[in-house]
Amino acid sequence: MVSERSFRLKGAESTFGRLGEADLPAILDIERGGYGYPWSEAQFLDCMGEGFEAWGSFFGGRLTGYLVHWQVLDEAHLMNLCVDRSHTRQGIGRQLLRHWISRMTCQNMGELILEVRESNLGAQALYRSEGFVQVGERPDYYPDGGKRESAIIMMLRL
Ligand SMILES: CC(C)(COP(=O)(O)OP(=O)(O)OC[C@H]1O[C@@H](n2cnc3c(N)ncnc32)[C@H](O)[C@@H]1OP(=O)(O)O)[C@@H](O)C(=O)NCCC(=O)NCCS
Repeated sequence: MVSERSFRLKGAESTFGRLGEADLPAILDIERGGYGYPWSEAQFLDCMGEGFEAWGSFFGGRLTGYLVHWQVLDEAHLMNLCVDRSHTRQGIGRQLLRHWISRMTCQNMGELILEVRESNLGAQALYRSEGFVQVGERPDYYPDGGKRESAIIMMLRL
């Protein structure tokens, strides 16, 4: 992890840093606590190649959340945003999202795109509050027990 800048949450100092393979064990711990259908190690490794970036938030040297994105031309796609279960509702998800939006704005991206489970109302509220709007839906996109769940597609035009 290379630390880039810091932010304060509830009076405590947190930092953002670019993530790499050495951070995978900590990423996987958070991923498995955050999702019913977590990404595998191989999926994260695929997301450390060209066009992808992974950023983490750290508190006391410990990873508390991360964001993975992929960019092509002037579009950036949010592939994964996850906060350690023991640190949710402390503003970390919003800080990671804002950090991403501001980096993408500086890089002159035209639009930011993401998909989110229809049932994930907390994440949708976060995205809406940062200016994302729903632009579509992908039916039966995610596994959901024996069934499938739709994805809501959201976009922020920069
Ligand atoms: C979604 C997630 C990233 C939010 O991270 P977080 O650090 O808890 O979010 P924040 O504390 O920054 O909250 C920002 C806003 O999001 C919304 N929000 C977040 N979690 C919520 C929840 N469980 N219920 C309702 N609203 C929620 C609220 O509007 C909140 O603002 P508020 O605290 O002022 O009310 C986190 O819950 C998580 O990692 N979930 C599991 C993985 C996941 O679903 N990722 C999204 C995939 S698209």
